[in-house]
Amino acid sequence: MTHAGKRRVVIDQVLRRVWREKGLPFGLLTRHINDDPATGAQTLVVDVPPGWTMPEHWNSADLELLVRDGDLTVAGRRCRRGHYLFLPSGTELGPISSDAGATLIFWADSPFEVRTDERPTPSKPLAETVDIFDQANWIPVREAFAGVTDTSSHGDLEVPTQCIRLRKVEESGKDTILFVLPRRFSKTALEFHHSTEEIFILGGWCATDPDHVYHSGDYLCWEPGVIHGVVTGWEALCLSKHHGPLTSPQIPLGATSVDAER
Ligand SMILES: [Fe+2]
Repeated sequence: MTHAGKRRVVIDQVLRRVWREKGLPFGLLTRHINDDPATGAQTLVVDVPPGWTMPEHWNSADLELLVRDGDLTVAGRRCRRGHYLFLPSGTELGPISSDAGATLIFWADSPFEVRTDERPTPSKPLAETVDIFDQANWIPVREAFAGVTDTSSHGDLEVPTQCIRLRKVEESGKDTILFVLPRRFSKTALEFHHSTEEIFILGGWCATDPDHVYHSGDYLCWEPGVIHGVVTGWEALCLSKHHGPLTSPQIPLGATSVDAER
């Protein structure tokens, strides 16, 4: 099973729910964007109210967050708008607080579980936050993906796409990437992936075909093997997450199906 394929979710049209979870202090609101019933993984947008706090604890899931707005202090890192942070399972997360409140894009890779018992060794060391709006962090896609299995669909790009590999492929094969499509972006090749691809649009616009244009605040999810393209865009900031090894093989224009098992 994978995350449900979704052609478009307009985040601001998703109803908020009060987030009730054992060990989670009252006050958070969630918007459910997607999930994978087989793994318990969830994609949420979370509103943190001003002054919200949470004491020391850890979580048994790998967590990722991007601050869309506001501020959040978590695991000793002070995050503000545009900051991304990967929180490996077992990391000491608290105390958590927000002064002005925050809106977060939030991923849990397995069931979300607040724990206060003895903490295991974190699954990975905690890295620093990454500011996705700082252009000094953007590098050419070709450089960022040197050595990655099959990304031949990126081979004939005439305009330079830049990216930040926020979370690199590990044993789990998961990869979180900020893609920056420049002005006049047009990728003539079609593409598909062997794992689920989720994308949050954070700025500019991009289109996965001429009739489907996405703007900031939109989300989409391709299940493995779904052909998309030709991809065009203009100053698009796309936060994408792949739930397995990132591949993007080239397939001929006009193709209507692929074998995603290969
Ligand atoms: Fe894609």
